[in-house]
Amino acid sequence: MKEKIKVIMDVDTGSDDAIAIMTALRSPELEVLGICTVNGNKPVENTTENTLRVLDLMDSQVPVYKGCASPMVAALNPARQMRRAKDVVKVDGRVVTYHHEYLEEFPKAKSKPQEECAVCWLIDTLLKSKGDITIIAVGPLTNIATAMRADPRIIPKIKKLVVMGGGHLQTNTTSASEFNIVMDPEAAQIVMTSGCEVLLVPLDATHRAWVGQEESNRFRSFGTPVSTAVADLLDTRIEAYDLLQPITFAPKNTTPPHDALAVCAVIDPEVLKDVRFCRVDVDFGGSYGDGMTIVDPRVRTDDPKNVYIALDADREKFVGMLFDRLGEK
Ligand code: RIB
Ligand code: CA
Repeated sequence: MKEKIKVIMDVDTGSDDAIAIMTALRSPELEVLGICTVNGNKPVENTTENTLRVLDLMDSQVPVYKGCASPMVAALNPARQMRRAKDVVKVDGRVVTYHHEYLEEFPKAKSKPQEECAVCWLIDTLLKSKGDITIIAVGPLTNIATAMRADPRIIPKIKKLVVMGGGHLQTNTTSASEFNIVMDPEAAQIVMTSGCEVLLVPLDATHRAWVGQEESNRFRSFGTPVSTAVADLLDTRIEAYDLLQPITFAPKNTTPPHDALAVCAVIDPEVLKDVRFCRVDVDFGGSYGDGMTIVDPRVRTDDPKNVYIALDADREKFVGMLFDRLGEK
């Protein structure tokens, strides 16, 4: 059997992070060394509790390390938080949103995070490694960038950094930006220009890798704790997307489980399509373009090309991978 791919996940669990974690834990191709949590969809206390809930459901012993509670500098300027797409709506008194405060689909966590903080553990683990660890980052890049700034020796030790984030012709949080990037634009620019090999899985890819009500119902039909949790998470997201953010390429009653596509891209790169090597920078100017991933389309770029970016995805392959790992077991 092929050697397992060593991975560290960095998450802001969240509904699609939960699906991504379950996919990674159920993939024999991966060895998950640890999971770092970060402020993002919810405060880091919540994203840590939510991550532990997922691991408890999976009966997993993978260690969890709590990370940064706020972006590197973005939150210091309140004006930068003002313009955000609506992410919650009430229907008959019921709150409809992509990510509830806690993952209601899972029982309260019994396990606890490790004592060591995520940034320290990342630095320690990467420095001790043989440079064979892939990082899958599916939340704001605060932990990763802080670790890079604190000890740049880790940069050549990162085999590959697969990031769910950004958008070329697709956005979600503002007219110019995607959530993970605009939550900490400075961190994202540090990562994109670090010299590390970065594979960006942006909304242009994830919005084409949607999952629908039919597939959610099929997960539910298996009746296992994991497949039922996946169906619950998908149903939560489908309702929220229909009411809050219909997607250009996707039919009604669907949702893009963004983060799970980044995990699947590590397992089988063929799940991504139209992958280009470009110059990508992140705007951190604080105005309309704040958090925008600026993908330079020119053949001759001013600065060296630095990011592999996927602009499409193979939805059928992606959905098949999810059923293989999270379906009937
Ligand atoms: O824009 C989608 C990303 O933002 C996903 O990672 C989702 O979990 C949220 O963090
Ligand atoms: Ca996420």
